[in-house]
Amino acid sequence: MEVRALAPSCGAEVFGLSLPEAGADAMQQVHAALAQHAVLFFRDQRFTPEQQLDVTRLFGPILRVPYIQHMDAYPDIIAVQKEADERRISNFGGTWHSDFSFLDEPPSYTLLYALELPALGGDTLWASQYAAYEALSDGMQRLLDPLWAVQTAWPHGTKGPGPGTAVSRSVGMVRNDPSADREVLQPVVRVHPVTRRKALFVNPVYTQRFEGMGEDESRPLLNYLFGHATRAEFTCRLRWAPGTLAVWDNRCLLHLAINDYDGSRRLLHRTTVAGERAVVP
Ligand code: SIN
Repeated sequence: MEVRALAPSCGAEVFGLSLPEAGADAMQQVHAALAQHAVLFFRDQRFTPEQQLDVTRLFGPILRVPYIQHMDAYPDIIAVQKEADERRISNFGGTWHSDFSFLDEPPSYTLLYALELPALGGDTLWASQYAAYEALSDGMQRLLDPLWAVQTAWPHGTKGPGPGTAVSRSVGMVRNDPSADREVLQPVVRVHPVTRRKALFVNPVYTQRFEGMGEDESRPLLNYLFGHATRAEFTCRLRWAPGTLAVWDNRCLLHLAINDYDGSRRLLHRTTVAGERAVVP
């Protein structure tokens, strides 16, 4: 097995490993590479949905995520999909976010497996939130370290966009569910349970405001952090091919699916690994 870094802040490609056949030694190396690079890309994998579920369990227990319609036959898999005739419409994951950061115990890893792709476009970006935190001044780090932020599943709740909001019809988003308005506090900076490094933990999809402050008071600093967190030098970019599997760590990354492929179909299968309560600095 060979691991080649793709960018300085995050991302590496793994060669010479078929994940369904990975033994304990190989998985130890994969976990070490994940701790170092935060997102790994495995090319030329050939999975059935059952095998993807087995591979997901190599990373930890599966989390069944709320507010998204699962595949009928596989309740632990989401089909991330946009059809060729869905033009000028939002895609799934098209704004920077960390998956389900509004849960009390947000997911650790996400696995995304590519099945059908546009000839060009439909890449995904990741941004290292270790790099984002470490690039802040000492003063800003000291300010942020003790802060908490309110997170909600905003797009799915009654305060979020209604059913008429244009988003790809192919990913069944459950909207207008009042439970999605539940406010969950997360630390603004979290300590990664494996690497012990600090990472920023706010994102423009789910983070509403700082605890104890109004939205208008929070917005200027949040907007600054959202822009800072996704600076180009903290990112890596994946050009997918059918059979590519990406595995990423939501505890130290944001990600975004680029929506630049109107007129083409894109289909990937997504599974999620359970996480833990965020560790505070
Ligand atoms: C997601 O946010 O999980 C979707 C990412 C993608 O489709 O590239």
